[in-house]
Amino acid sequence: MKHTLLIALLITYNSFWFSNSIHAENDTRFTDDELIDTDGKPVNAHGAGVLYHKGVYYLFGEVKQGKTWLVPKQNWEDFRVPAGGVSCYSSTDLKHWKNRGVVLKPTTNNPDYDLDTSRVIERPKVIYNEHTKKFIMWMHIDKNDYSYSRGGVAISDKPFGPYKYLGSVKPNNQMLRDMTLFKDDDGKAYLIYSSENNNTMHICLLSSDYLTPTKAYTRILVNEGRESPAIFKNQGKYFLITSGCSGWSPNAASYAVADHVMGPWLERENPCKGVNAEVSFFSQGGFVLPVANKPGSFIFMGDRWNKTDLEKSTYLWLPVHIINDKIEIY
Ligand code: GAL
Repeated sequence: MKHTLLIALLITYNSFWFSNSIHAENDTRFTDDELIDTDGKPVNAHGAGVLYHKGVYYLFGEVKQGKTWLVPKQNWEDFRVPAGGVSCYSSTDLKHWKNRGVVLKPTTNNPDYDLDTSRVIERPKVIYNEHTKKFIMWMHIDKNDYSYSRGGVAISDKPFGPYKYLGSVKPNNQMLRDMTLFKDDDGKAYLIYSSENNNTMHICLLSSDYLTPTKAYTRILVNEGRESPAIFKNQGKYFLITSGCSGWSPNAASYAVADHVMGPWLERENPCKGVNAEVSFFSQGGFVLPVANKPGSFIFMGDRWNKTDLEKSTYLWLPVHIINDKIEIY
């Protein structure tokens, strides 16, 4: 009850502030049950990322469906639902989302296969390769106990799939868990992921077809224990927002800034400001969406995990306010 009241107050405060703010570069802000598709159903795309292609936004995320269960014999809250594959929704205005279906389907009765429903398929991200004209999806693939720690890759001729799964790798023989993808202005693309048992973040340059990690990688936020990386670039500066490591429970975000994607990265404080900033407003960020044709306008996309009923997890999207090389989220 107290929790609900706090959220209500936060939303009211944010809505009031937002509608009166001179910083309000965009009007896209969603919380909890507001992200509904054009069929009137809740959007089922968690740990999501967005690709903007030819005037259309494509939202990709984890399908969380079915009963949540607790994996036995773990010393942490390893709540799981069957891996539901990757969903896709499209929109031209970031408000009306059309369900394009499950574009990377899971398989059943094949527990040794990466896409089996008994596995973990998390944080899918898609980028477009201008040379090969292919859409490339990377995602975190794991086993129930998160010991597998690999990056899976899939390919399609169309943004809305279907995607063909090509397999999974450990980049440079390193663990890969929470991850994101980043395509720079020069066409080079990078995988950014929690590695070394979630202790240290890695940034790895991908091959020119975006299908393989190269040997060029850098270790950042060393021994900081960060996850759910979300990166964006504004006026030549790179910003990387991460969460702490507390499973499905929210914690304080922090961010780092760099002049080059491979670093060095300067670590900064929590970008979230205001009531409940220390728990990222009860969310975990995972992507920052550049609003098309609005330079300097970015949306922080977070998940509000419902750990004992993961299918009921919701979202929080907030504008990112940029002040030179500093950012604030509220
Ligand atoms: C979180 C991570 C999620 C999921 C979860 C499992 O820390 O960000 O993507 O893997 O752990 O407990």
